[in-house]
Amino acid sequence: MNTLLKNSTIEIKSPEEVEKMRVAGALAAEQLEMIEEFIVPGVSTAELDRICHEFTVKQQHATPAPLNYNGFPKSICTSVNHVVCHGIPSEDKILKSGDIINIDVTPLKDGFHGDSSKTFLVGKPTVLAERLVSVCQECLYRGIRTVRPGSRLGDIGHAIQTHAERHRFSVVREYCGHGIGRIFHDEPQVLHYGKPGTGSELKPGMTFTIEPMINAGKKEVRLLPDNWTVVTKDHKLTAQWEHTILVTETGYEILTHRSDDTIARCA
Ligand code: MF3
Ligand code: CO
Ligand code: CO
Repeated sequence: MNTLLKNSTIEIKSPEEVEKMRVAGALAAEQLEMIEEFIVPGVSTAELDRICHEFTVKQQHATPAPLNYNGFPKSICTSVNHVVCHGIPSEDKILKSGDIINIDVTPLKDGFHGDSSKTFLVGKPTVLAERLVSVCQECLYRGIRTVRPGSRLGDIGHAIQTHAERHRFSVVREYCGHGIGRIFHDEPQVLHYGKPGTGSELKPGMTFTIEPMINAGKKEVRLLPDNWTVVTKDHKLTAQWEHTILVTETGYEILTHRSDDTIARCA
């Protein structure tokens, strides 16, 4: 497709739409802050799903967008250890000390989505788990720091890939970040690998997610027969962190910024 044409399909939000994205983003952040104390050895992922569902609906007066999205059966994704993404909460999946779990939440409020995820350490982490999880978070932050008017999508992917591979980890290719707004998964695709100076140019008012999935072993993944759960082919550990980002006149704004984030909300 022609580059000009492709660029023109990335929506620019109006100030009113941006304000609604801020509200939805803040709800996603609040959910990840709320759930932290429940992530302990012995809890099931189904219980974490119930807590998030109730909180979203009863406290936030929002809708969990994952529920029934393309047939997804639960309100959040819970991806443990070698599960890359889209893990389905289950009564049978009980967390134990040393596990890592990504919780991915997407509240829908007043017509707009806020999409964010964080990988939590359960009990006492292994040295590898701690390293993988923090390098993955750094990958997200390095991707975010490239965001400003005039930079390109390839700059984000390059920053992420370079950092992951410097640590001898690998970047999952099959899943990517995405434009977001009234539509959960919109244009553009935000790849977590790539070359600087390539891809669509960023403009103020664009909103999209960055959500690197970083593997301790090889980059290849496999889809389980439930047609949702994505696992690493080599069954080694994998981590993911996700924020919803707004391109501003001067840089970026993290719409899903939390109190535990170690990057500035705006630049
Ligand atoms: N929140 C996921 C993302 O970051 C998408 C989950 S889709 C679901 O894009 F159906 F699995 F919930
Ligand atoms: Co997303
Ligand atoms: Co998500």
